[in-house]
Amino acid sequence: MKHIDIANILQDKTLLGSKVTVCGWVRTARDSAAVAFLEVTDGSSFSRLQVVVDKSKFELDPECTKCGASIAATGVVVKAFKGEGAELNAESVTLLGKCPGDYPIQKKRTTLEFLRTIPHLRLRTNTFSAVFRVRSVAAQAIHRFFHENRFYYVHTPLITASDCEGAGEMFRVTTQPWNAKYESEAAYYKDDFFGQKAGLSVSGQLEGEVAAMAFGKIYTFGPSFRAENSNTTRHLAEFWHVEPEIVFAELPEVMELAEAMIKYVVRAVLEECPDEMDFFEKFVEPGLKEKLANIVESKFAVLEYTEAIELLKKADENFQFPVEWGCDLQTEHERYLTEKVFKKPVFVTNYPKEIKSFYMKQNADGKTVAATDLLVPGIGEIIGGSEREADPDKLLAAMQARGMDIAAYRQYLDLRKFGTAPHGGFGLGFDRFVMYVTGMENIRDVVLFPRTVNNIM
Ligand code: 4AD
Repeated sequence: MKHIDIANILQDKTLLGSKVTVCGWVRTARDSAAVAFLEVTDGSSFSRLQVVVDKSKFELDPECTKCGASIAATGVVVKAFKGEGAELNAESVTLLGKCPGDYPIQKKRTTLEFLRTIPHLRLRTNTFSAVFRVRSVAAQAIHRFFHENRFYYVHTPLITASDCEGAGEMFRVTTQPWNAKYESEAAYYKDDFFGQKAGLSVSGQLEGEVAAMAFGKIYTFGPSFRAENSNTTRHLAEFWHVEPEIVFAELPEVMELAEAMIKYVVRAVLEECPDEMDFFEKFVEPGLKEKLANIVESKFAVLEYTEAIELLKKADENFQFPVEWGCDLQTEHERYLTEKVFKKPVFVTNYPKEIKSFYMKQNADGKTVAATDLLVPGIGEIIGGSEREADPDKLLAAMQARGMDIAAYRQYLDLRKFGTAPHGGFGLGFDRFVMYVTGMENIRDVVLFPRTVNNIM
C-alpha cells in the first residue's frame, strides 16, 4: 500500500501542505457531530498523529473511531492546532480492520501484571512501544559499537554438548520418545540425535574464545538458555547475551571495554529515544534521565571482592544472607554496594576461585581469580566476565580439581597449546541492560514472550 510513515510527517517540516496517505491504528478518538479527532499510530514514532475529520466533507465510518481499529487516511499535512507538530486534515478515511469493544487495550492505564496475561496485545500500549523501541535502538548501538572497534560478529552454536561453565542447569535437546527404554543412561544418549547428550548453550563463550584466538576481537549477540529454577524479576530461561572476547588483553582491558560499551549504548539511547526516555522519566522511574546522563559522564567504581566483603560486614543492614569471605554475593549485597555505597555502576573484581568458573585466570595469591562482575543500581549484576587462564598446565589442573571430563574439552585445551595468549571477555545480559535503561522493574516486561519457570505462553 502506498503510504508514508507517521514519523516522517511529524519530523519533516517540508511535508507541510502536501497530500499524503498514512496507515495505522486508532489509539483514541474524540468524536462529535461535526468533527472527529483520531489519534493514530503506525509504530514508526512514539508520538501519534492527529487525524482531523471534518464530517461535513465526507461520511466517516463509525468503526474508524473505535480504539484499536486499523485505518488508512488521506489528507493534507498542516501545522498542529496546538504545539509545534503537524496533523492531518483528512479528505478520506478507510477502515482496514475493525476492532470490537472487547479489545483489552483501552485508553485507561492498566497494570503490567494484567498485560503479562496478553503478551500478544500488550505491545500496543505506550509502555511497551517505548520499551521495544529502546531495546531495538540499544541492540543496533551494540552492533555499531563493536563494528566501529573492528570486532568480528560471530555466531556460536545454540546446541552444545558441553555445559560451558556449569553456569546453570542446561535444557536438554533430544528427539528420543518419552517412553524410550534403555539399559543405561549412556545407551539412551547413544541412540539420541547426536549420539550423545546435548543441550541448549548457557553461553557462547567457549566457542567465542575459539574465534577470538583466530580473529583477535570478536563478539556474539544471541540467546542463551538457563534451566535454573530462579523465579525472580531478573531471571529468564531464555535471555539475550552479548559476549565479546579480546586477545592480547588482561582484566583491566576487559573492564575498559565493558565500560566503553555501556556508555556508548546509553548515549545512543538518550540521543535516539528522547520521547521514550521522557515517558519513562514521567511514568516509570523519576530521575532516570539524570541517572543515565551521569553514567555517561562518570567513571565506574572498581572494588576488590575482599574490600566488598569488608564493606558489607560493616554495613548497618539486615541482610538475609550472611556475609563471609568466600561467599557468593547475593542480589541484596550487590544492590547495597551499588545503590547505597557508590550510587553508580561498580566493577567487583578478583573473586575467590571456588565460587567462579574453571577457565578464569588464577591470580598469584593462589586464592582468587581475575574475574569481574559489573553491578548497577536497581538490578545488581548485569555483566559477568574475566581474564581467561592462558597457561595450559594451570587450566588443566583447575579442570581436574573440578573432576571435569578433560576429553570433552580437547579443543578448548588446544587453544592453550597452539599459540596461547592472554585474553578475556564478558557477558552482558541484554534484557537486564534494557531494564536498566528503561527503569522497568521486571525482566518479563522487556522481552516479547518471556520464558520463565512454569511459563511459556
Ligand atoms: O555471569 P554469567 O553466567 O557469565 C557467563 O555466562 C560468561 N560465560 C560470560 C562471558 O564471560 N563471556 O552471565 C553473564 C550475564 C549476567 O551478568 C547476567 O546479566 C546475564 O548474563 N544472565 C541472565 N540474564 C537473564 N536471565 C538469566 N537467567 C541470566 N543468567 C545470566
